Amino acid sequence: MNAEKTYRTIIEPFRIKSVEPIRMTTRRQRETLLAEAGYNPFLLRAEDVLIDLLTDSGTGAMSAEQWAGIMRGDESYAGARSYYHFADTVRDIFGFRHILPVHQGRAAERILFSTVCRSGDVVPSNTHFDTTRANIEYVGATAVDLPIPEARQPHVPHPFKGNMDVGALEALIASTGAEKIPLVMLTITNNSGGGQPVSMENVWTVSRICRRHGLRLYIDACRFAENCWFIRERETGYADKDVIDIARELFSYADGATMSAKKDGLANIGGFLATNDDALARQEATLLILTEGFPTYGGLAGRDLEAIAIGLREVLDHDYLRYRITSTAYLGRHLTEIGYPLVQPPGGHAIYVDAAALLPHIPPAAYPGQALVCELYCAGGIRAVEVGSVMFGTPDPATGEEKPAPMELVRLAIPRRVYTQSHIDYVIEVMADVYERREALRGLRLTWQAPPLRHFTARFTPLGARPT
Ligand code: F0G
Repeated sequence: MNAEKTYRTIIEPFRIKSVEPIRMTTRRQRETLLAEAGYNPFLLRAEDVLIDLLTDSGTGAMSAEQWAGIMRGDESYAGARSYYHFADTVRDIFGFRHILPVHQGRAAERILFSTVCRSGDVVPSNTHFDTTRANIEYVGATAVDLPIPEARQPHVPHPFKGNMDVGALEALIASTGAEKIPLVMLTITNNSGGGQPVSMENVWTVSRICRRHGLRLYIDACRFAENCWFIRERETGYADKDVIDIARELFSYADGATMSAKKDGLANIGGFLATNDDALARQEATLLILTEGFPTYGGLAGRDLEAIAIGLREVLDHDYLRYRITSTAYLGRHLTEIGYPLVQPPGGHAIYVDAAALLPHIPPAAYPGQALVCELYCAGGIRAVEVGSVMFGTPDPATGEEKPAPMELVRLAIPRRVYTQSHIDYVIEVMADVYERREALRGLRLTWQAPPLRHFTARFTPLGARPT
């Protein structure tokens, strides 16, 4: 017998059973649609988008098995079979004693922070996602980001660029006092930092620091499977391990987790809040009942719980994860070859273009990221999102001038199991064309905004001539 031959091409490890047509449009039509949307792609109708890379959240395709689970969903108000399937699966992978279902990640954050946080508290993280930060600030506490220094330099590669700066954590605990820190958080992968993974060693070290100071460690587990795959690929000692065991080890260092199942739950809605603390779980369940629902459904239908339980197993499949991470890296490699400055290395769920480096002729005040996002839509019907001064610019109340964000990025987030390689090849071709014409791109002027989270509804007008 010949030895097993391995081939270089990594294919989508699924075949397509159900299709959803996408609508072709012309550049002229898209220019009109974008103008009507105030040059803000959030305000477009999804039907008018050809390739939608706005987010990887809730936009994944469910498997045949998940759709079958939808039919099996038990819609009993209390004690539904689907709840037990869901809770047993979460417990098996994540290891926490108490599992509360919620309708999405931010609901878990709101319940957690309104239970453990007091006004004046400080919550450190490698980098908080914006809803996490908002929920911490809502209760009068301060959210502090402590990424390693490499995370602030887009072009500097690092295998675990999502790591927390443990020296900075020690210094913060010393200056703030442990009693002011209700918990420490690690976001895996670090979405706002470019979808970058956190190493097992970093989780372990942060956990040891927390134990020494009597602090809780929580994991924002949205993209835990992608993070664990990176550990398997990049960290010594994990190459032969099953990802589920890597996940079990990682969560064994933590006291609890929040999770949006709209990402690595491979579901369109849902999430959970998990803890090992009995008293805390009781308090959280009381709040859950107030706004989400009875603790065995937490604002979800039984069928949603079923889809998540199945999705959490499917996401740990090695063939799936190899394809997932390889296809994101494929887009990153081709864009780099064209000349695009990217956050390096490519993250798990998204590619981040450094729009400030790509469009140095557009100052932050004219929103280079938004200019690129608009041109990607006009050129090829691709919808991306600006992660720069539109999203994070802060008006200075004294001068009325705006303080720009630290980076002007554009995120191309890849929905799970939705687009094939030819869709991605199309994105690459469109972006090669846009790259050639980059010097002709013009910035925008903000004409209407409603802070906070103004990026969802802001309206713009283009400055000067538009490229053809
Ligand atoms: N934490 C992280 C790291 C996230 O990326 C998100 C959502 C949340 C929490 C909140 O979860 O949306 O279910 O309430 N991220 C989406 C995105 C919206 O596009 O990155 P949610």
